[in-house]
Amino acid sequence: MTEKRSALITGITGQDGSYLAELLLEKGYEVHGMVRRASTEKFERIEHLRERITLHQGDLLDQRSLVDTLRASKPAEIYNLAAMSFVAVSWIQPTLTAEFTGVGVTRMLEAMREVCPQARFYQASSSEMFGKVLEVPQTETTPFYPRSPYGVAKAYGHFITVNYRESYDLHATSGILFNHESPRRGLEFVTRKITWHAAAIRHGLIKELRLGNLEAERDWGYAKDYVEAMWLMLQQKSPEDYVIATGEAHSVKECCEVAFEEAGLGAFEPYVVIDESFVRPAEVDHLIGSPAKAEKDLGWKPQTSFEELIRLMTRADLELLKPR
Ligand code: NAP
Ligand code: GDD
Repeated sequence: MTEKRSALITGITGQDGSYLAELLLEKGYEVHGMVRRASTEKFERIEHLRERITLHQGDLLDQRSLVDTLRASKPAEIYNLAAMSFVAVSWIQPTLTAEFTGVGVTRMLEAMREVCPQARFYQASSSEMFGKVLEVPQTETTPFYPRSPYGVAKAYGHFITVNYRESYDLHATSGILFNHESPRRGLEFVTRKITWHAAAIRHGLIKELRLGNLEAERDWGYAKDYVEAMWLMLQQKSPEDYVIATGEAHSVKECCEVAFEEAGLGAFEPYVVIDESFVRPAEVDHLIGSPAKAEKDLGWKPQTSFEELIRLMTRADLELLKPR
């Protein structure tokens, strides 16, 4: 019997980690995940996979645990998805964000160099690195101008991945992913916050939704489509960097319009209150990516439109919050 290919996912308990684990299991991989200890386990997103995956205790701050996780999982592919991923909190915990989201990448790369330099490495880079954009649409060659401690930390993670590829000949890829959402998105991110609140208002559980900047525009795609692109990147003969996006931008306001309509509430304006505490110290006003290189080299295309995405998230929240 041939041995299964092994893959390690850091951040397996997160939105992307859970979808990627499902995808890799479907493809016949032996899936390992790195998780950090907490007094209460937060494994809801991977509960349905628990019997089919192997979990290892580890933390991006702890080199020993990264080395031991790689020794135990013997991965052919490493997907480094773990990070402090919420931009707003990066102003509150800037140093910790730099440690997790920035230097944590070097720790992973060092552990890989020590234990399994032949493995393939995926780094979860972000369109937040483009920040105050210097080019429209943003591509793999657009210079970075990050606008948050999170964006700065991700830029470090991107460049250290490129540097280790060039210095040590590692198969290391940086996927520059634009915003991607799903019913498994954390409740603090704006799309899920909107769909959850629209559903809760519809069911009479709450009365209003407090938001910050309604004019901000993002290139929003579906997380399930995006994890396929991560896998495709690691199947390429030589490692390169790729932008993954839909090529369309929509505003927070448009997201409210679609969600409130899908929830059967009509116009969103009567329910939405502008709350300055959700306005960021420095904003990223407009992000729109070009997936042209991904389409050409990986044969990857987004499958789900913005409107379909917000509608499916709203329906999922209506079901989740339905009185029983
Ligand atoms: P997420 O839902 O917030 O998941 C983050 C994961 O990282 C969780 O599993 C979390 O574990 C883990 N983690 C955080 N700090 C850690 C540490 N010190 N050690 C070990 N694990 C740690 O994020 P996501 O949306 O799935 O995103 C996945 C990755 O892609 C992140 O790196 C994010 O920055 C990046 N990204 C996301 C998007 C997007 O739109 N979703 C776009 C571009 C890039 P706990 O469960 O223990 O907290
Ligand atoms: N979270 C949040 N909450 N955002 C709000 C709110 C609110 O109440 N009101 C307006 N916004 C605006 C933010 O100011 C921002 O311009 C936009 O909505 C999107 O915010 P988030 O959903 O929090 O996502 P993000 O774009 O900051 O970051 C996400 O995408 C990045 C890729 O560009 C995260 O997933 C990052 O991890 C990821 O790298």
